[in-house]
Amino acid sequence: MSALRIGVIGGGAIANLHLTSYAKNPDVEIAAIADVNADRAATVAAQWGASRSYGSPAELLADADIDAVSICTWNNTHAELAVAAVEAGKHVLVEKPLARTYAEARTVQEAAEKSDRVVSVGFVRRFSTNCRVLKSFIDEGRLGDIYYAKASAIRRVGNPGGWFADKSISGGGPLIDVGVHVIDLCWYLMGSPRAVAVSGNTYERLGNRSNITSLPRWKVADYDPAKNDVEDMANAVVRFENGASLMVDVSYSLHTPSEGLNVSVYGDRGGAQLEPELQIATEVLDTVVNMTPQIRSGTFDGVDGFDTEINWFVAACRGERENIAPAWHGVEVQKILDGIYASADAGREIALD
Ligand SMILES: NC(=O)c1ccc[n+]([C@@H]2O[C@H](COP(=O)([O-])OP(=O)(O)OC[C@H]3O[C@@H](n4cnc5c(N)ncnc54)[C@H](O)[C@@H]3O)[C@@H](O)[C@H]2O)c1
Repeated sequence: MSALRIGVIGGGAIANLHLTSYAKNPDVEIAAIADVNADRAATVAAQWGASRSYGSPAELLADADIDAVSICTWNNTHAELAVAAVEAGKHVLVEKPLARTYAEARTVQEAAEKSDRVVSVGFVRRFSTNCRVLKSFIDEGRLGDIYYAKASAIRRVGNPGGWFADKSISGGGPLIDVGVHVIDLCWYLMGSPRAVAVSGNTYERLGNRSNITSLPRWKVADYDPAKNDVEDMANAVVRFENGASLMVDVSYSLHTPSEGLNVSVYGDRGGAQLEPELQIATEVLDTVVNMTPQIRSGTFDGVDGFDTEINWFVAACRGERENIAPAWHGVEVQKILDGIYASADAGREIALD
């Protein structure tokens, strides 16, 4: 079989990680890069040996010698570009979140359902070894019926600024940026149950804490301390059709002594902490037993995660593997995110369709 010819749209930070992984895959040719910043597209293309660079995604999508694209642009363009790419006959790996809103995300699902192309959402944490191992335990029934999950992604001074802090581009703050990862992990490990209600709160109390000098922070290139219209933190309880529930809290800015990312799921035969390190709790002979799978890394490993995500996508495009992060998964997660924002606005629990 000939190499899968890849185009990458958006040549920023996350594109670099996609390209690092594509470059390791022998079944791939990195063919072209597109960025609205044409100079950046040309630089990134030269760096990765792509023969073409484009100053607009439309030019890349019109390139008949491209089979599949990674969409690594800002959130406001994900849905529109994913739909255009599918309609241009390309397979699509679109970065998380699938879109800014549920309505936008649905357009991608509809386009995917009308086509035979692979449309995969960049839920990279699903692909890390710790998650793959836990998922295999769950699929074998080792945790039984999962009825509760808890997720937390807390930063103290972690608002990156730039487009992340501009709601019109990002769609929101920590909930849509990092909350999407931990909510997706729980939802995926719970077996993708249908969310039926959500009660959420969002707060804009501390702002971006640009005054803080005592801690390092990662800032995007165009950081402007005066610009920020996203929430500082959000929390929620999500109810599912099967009676299961999820509790989540996320922040960019919070007065807390420590930061952390925690993901746990609890079933009637066993429970598991996925992050910060994979551990499984169960009962053996009337005794509570904690098990620690002996794997290369019990926590999310970015290199492992992106390599596996990209290799999986390439194999799915070649018809060799099932796509485990289809568009409808991105839509269901987006429904929960939208629900949390809507519930916070309404000040009460809301039902989801
Ligand atoms: N999977 C992860 O863990 C992870 C981590 C970070 C970011 N992301 C996601 O990746 C995406 C990009 O984030 P980033 O940190 O790389 O941002 P970035 O700002 O570093 O890069 C984005 C690039 O997209 C370009 N761009 C914007 N709109 C475009 C358009 N319409 N057409 C072509 N190019 C366009 C920009 O010029 C920029 O070069 C975001 O959706 C973000 O949520 C995912």
